[in-house]
Amino acid sequence: MKKHTQKILYGLIIVFIFIQLIPVDKSNPKTLAEIQAPSDVKTILKNSCYDCHSNQTSWPWYSYVAPVSFLVSKDVKDGRRHLNFSIWENLSAEKKADKLDEIWEEVEDGEMPMPIYTFMHTKAKLTEAQKSIIKNWTRGGGNSNSMKSHTHEHDED
Ligand code: HEC
Repeated sequence: MKKHTQKILYGLIIVFIFIQLIPVDKSNPKTLAEIQAPSDVKTILKNSCYDCHSNQTSWPWYSYVAPVSFLVSKDVKDGRRHLNFSIWENLSAEKKADKLDEIWEEVEDGEMPMPIYTFMHTKAKLTEAQKSIIKNWTRGGGNSNSMKSHTHEHDED
């Protein structure tokens, strides 16, 4: 019985070592049409959403260790597919309006940023003040009711 347990343990270690060899996509494609938003909004998005919803992901150390790396890579891939602030300005006005509604829905329900993410990135957790900034921005149609939007962080590509 003891020997059996030991065999299982060695087996697991070998599996762990071998899954490290499976390639994981951790690429950051080009930022082509980054979102234009008031700077307070953008700071929040960068701080709490960009790791999964932009092409500017900072890949944490644990994203290099399988099997966690598989999960992180999948979240980033799915996250970008649903919403990508690096190509936001290419969306039609209609699409932007849809996405803004969804953003507020997710934030209001506390579904975004994903709890598994805020567990590791406690600073990404949204405060009530940050939520209300997101609320005003999404409810205002994503327009910058502040004049800062066009003077800062204007990315040309
Ligand atoms: C850890 C990665 C991660 C972070 C951080 C994150 N998201 Fe997400 N988000 C996802 C994934 C993955 C999905 C895909 C839907 C799903 O599987 O739940 C998603 C889906 C969404 C959707 C739904 C879009 C659609 O078209 O269905 C919205 C809106 C959204 N996220 C907004 C945000 C906002 C706003 C933030 C920051 C406040 C944020 N997310 C932070 C991973 C993340």
